[in-house]
Amino acid sequence: MKVMLVNGSSREHGCTARALQEVAKALEAEGIETETLFIGNRPIADCLACGQCGKLGHCVLQDAAAEFAVRAAEFDGFVFGSPVYYAHPSGRLLSFMDRAFYANGANFRFKPAAAVLSARRAGNTASLDVIMKHFTINEMPVVSSSYWNHVHGNTPAEVEQDLEGLQTMTNLGKNMAWLLKCIQLGKENNVCPPVNRKVYTNFIR
Ligand SMILES: Cc1cc2nc3c(=O)[nH]c(=O)nc-3n(C[C@H](O)[C@H](O)[C@H](O)COP(=O)(O)O)c2cc1C
Repeated sequence: MKVMLVNGSSREHGCTARALQEVAKALEAEGIETETLFIGNRPIADCLACGQCGKLGHCVLQDAAAEFAVRAAEFDGFVFGSPVYYAHPSGRLLSFMDRAFYANGANFRFKPAAAVLSARRAGNTASLDVIMKHFTINEMPVVSSSYWNHVHGNTPAEVEQDLEGLQTMTNLGKNMAWLLKCIQLGKENNVCPPVNRKVYTNFIR
């Protein structure tokens, strides 16, 4: 089993990376393979709303977000990490997630997911809610921890002092590993995800 950890920070080796590293360590201690993807610090285009992905099966914009969306099929679980910017997640990560989920939502469906935030001081729970909405509109089990999934600090050295924050990350990794193993056992015993009906009415019919 394999989990993809997405680092949505502008800083590859910043506080978000430190938090994700702790989650990855806990997953690997439980025998789960991990891969971390840094989405980079260059602009990522927002969704064009062109609807071409519905026909092509991938985003027309060929970049890291499009590549990730297709590769997501290989993974069993996801952790999305972001710094808090003005009490919301990084806009770059949100564009990345909007496009991946819109173009290739099936590659994420029914797979456990978690959001991880890093903040100097505040805005973390509001940001957590924003990221988690991608999961809860896409039938993904949301993995929680012993506190809301965030660390505090402006630098990785400060995060190092947030012992409860790091403990939350460890517990998150362990909880995700447990859920992944339960799902795997379920599959081996013919307990499979439901086939749900999805009819859009746009509130007008
Ligand atoms: C543009 C910008 C806005 C920020 N807004 C907030 C904020 O609303 N609340 C907060 O606690 N920290 C805020 N911060 C601080 C970062 O969230 C914090 O330093 C975070 O841990 C950085 O993570 P990183 O090292 O992965 O980039 C902001 C930082 C930047 C650059």
